[in-house]
Amino acid sequence: MDSKVLFHEPQATTAVAVRETAPAKVNLFLNVETKRPDGYHELETLMVSLGLHDTLEFRPLPGESLELVAHDARTAAGLGPSSPPLEVPVGPANLVWKAAQLLQERTGCRLGARLELWKRIPVAAGLAGGSTDAAATLRGLNRLWNLGLSLEELRELGAELGSDIPFFLSGRPAALCRGRGELITPLDLPLGLALVIVKPAAGLSTPQVFRACRPQGPHPGVEPLIAALKQGCLAAVAQRLHNTLQPAAESLCPSVVLLKETFSRLSPVGHLMSGSGTCYFGLCRNLAEARRLAGVLQAQRVGSVFVTSVAC
Ligand code: C5P
Repeated sequence: MDSKVLFHEPQATTAVAVRETAPAKVNLFLNVETKRPDGYHELETLMVSLGLHDTLEFRPLPGESLELVAHDARTAAGLGPSSPPLEVPVGPANLVWKAAQLLQERTGCRLGARLELWKRIPVAAGLAGGSTDAAATLRGLNRLWNLGLSLEELRELGAELGSDIPFFLSGRPAALCRGRGELITPLDLPLGLALVIVKPAAGLSTPQVFRACRPQGPHPGVEPLIAALKQGCLAAVAQRLHNTLQPAAESLCPSVVLLKETFSRLSPVGHLMSGSGTCYFGLCRNLAEARRLAGVLQAQRVGSVFVTSVAC
């Protein structure tokens, strides 16, 4: 979106508080293609949103001021023995803040807000925690400030802030994302999935992983995975899981290799690293198996362990 001013009629805020749920995502498929002149990579990815989520609450503030308060809301179950303290910037460096400022700029809105964030999604993890919080901020402030922007307009603003953000403004839990990630095709998938996810203590920076990525052709297509998901065939889904960024992440971070080996021994139906890492997920037969594997993984002290579902 260019810097046009979006329609905005100044009006009193009616809501006292607005609450939004911000789900994490995993990539069941991520194929990185060519590097573009703008420095981004052309990609094709199938993203699904998870039960694991952050929560945001928005309240009006006088003037145009912004305030951000963050709470560590990780449950004991998600905290592994080596869980580092949660590092969430509470100023303009946070994507949430940038999203609020962008909305103010582009709509001419002269209202302020206090943003309160309950953080459960691990950071630097490949679960798009920052992106989903930013998307939730665009949705939440659009409501709090009565801006009346459509989801499509919010997606365009979101794409300016990050490639993963438009997915969380698609209004759907599963989508095929192309371009640099911002071109969204929602998918109707009948399958519910049970996942166990591990976040090792080490994190990875997304640009670093993309820089280290050397795609080796020919690459698998995403269609067989979509067909397997539509048929509800878990074994076929597991065979089609793919992430071009994983070898690069493995070369940068020994914890990812360790998790791959650990998951191979535990034999869930399938396993893969999510996004640019370092989170690693096991696709399980059901939630009971996911919980059982979570117990084993916690005992092995490989990182913070989460059990979550995907409701496609
Ligand atoms: O869009 P976002 O800010 O989330 O991207 C973070 C970084 O990941 C980019 O600066 C770029 O290095 C890399 N990236 C990429 N190609 C994409 C998406 C992200 O190279 N399609």
